[in-house]
Amino acid sequence: MSTLTFPVLHVLADGQFHSGETLAQRFKVTRATIWNAVQHAESLGVEIFSVRGRGYKLPQAIDFLDKNEVIKSIGEQRAWFDLQILDEVTSTNAYLMQQKRFAHATCVAAHVQTHGKGRRGRTWVSQLGASLTFSLLWRFQCGAAALSGLSLAVGVALIRALSSLGVSHAQLKWPNDVLVDGKKLAGILIELQGDLEGPSVAVIGIGFNLNLPNNVLESIDQPAIDLASVAKQAINQSMLLGVLLKRLAEVLSGFETHGFIGLRDEWLRYHAYENKPVRMLLPNGTDVQGLVKGVADDGILLVETALGLQRFSAGELSLRGLV
Ligand code: ATP
Ligand code: BTN
Repeated sequence: MSTLTFPVLHVLADGQFHSGETLAQRFKVTRATIWNAVQHAESLGVEIFSVRGRGYKLPQAIDFLDKNEVIKSIGEQRAWFDLQILDEVTSTNAYLMQQKRFAHATCVAAHVQTHGKGRRGRTWVSQLGASLTFSLLWRFQCGAAALSGLSLAVGVALIRALSSLGVSHAQLKWPNDVLVDGKKLAGILIELQGDLEGPSVAVIGIGFNLNLPNNVLESIDQPAIDLASVAKQAINQSMLLGVLLKRLAEVLSGFETHGFIGLRDEWLRYHAYENKPVRMLLPNGTDVQGLVKGVADDGILLVETALGLQRFSAGELSLRGLV
């Protein structure tokens, strides 16, 4: 761990060479201390070129999150949020879940997650400057039992945000993956605290691929895609986070009042597998095939199978398309 790692990375963010000596002078430390800071950055998966006589350089310029820009992009609801931007954290979800003191609408975004997680203990892959990773804590008066459609509602917020940024062909895979051309662009992990009766707290974690190098995209064990390859214009990550928070505020307030039912028709318009044949992978290792027949008012997936219309809840299931 080096406290200078991120200050040095902020200087290197311009994508130019900076000599060890200039950096050492700037931070009033030795060149060995700068070297240590660079070593720590490399241990976080950041690639840094080190060239004798020229210094250190990132493969390309990177765009760090800028709190003022995020707040500006949220618009009218900016006062709702308490935004924290961390350089390095295990997981923004774990960070918000561990602590009880966070206020409603606290958003924590991280430049680097060392243990980003997906559902059921799976790993979420991200990289400094190439991914947006953040979590939003939302307090609900109702209990966890009434939040079954929440993860689908969050998917709607992401699609609205993408659409307002000119990406109009994104779709949702039940319960909430965001796909473009059948490949995963963003993932949502919701963790709940509280009683079935209420009140409850939801930590809504979102990981978005911005411009991951091909080798990283290919290392992911399912087809993945990034925003740079689907957007017509460059989208700055601070602006993206602001727009996502604006849409989340809109959707979550609607969800508090009306539940998922008010968003159901819209969700179905974005549904990648509507009326398509799928395979549901069950926790006991077996699978069920059928034709998707939409979702119920509480977000439960309806599938026409050999046994008739079956209802599946998100908890332990994985859905796979058959075409
Ligand atoms: P489901 O179980 O609902 O079918 P899933 O297979 O997408 O969903 P999740 O737990 O939702 O699984 O997401 C974690 C998975 O996402 C990982 O196992 C990996 O396959 C994939 N993944 C990890 N990082 C990324 C990323 N940056 N972009 C796209 N996909 C990723
Ligand atoms: C999934 O598709 O399984 C969900 C992936 C969610 C990833 C995000 S990144 C920010 C937040 N912190 C985490 O550790 N996970 C979520």
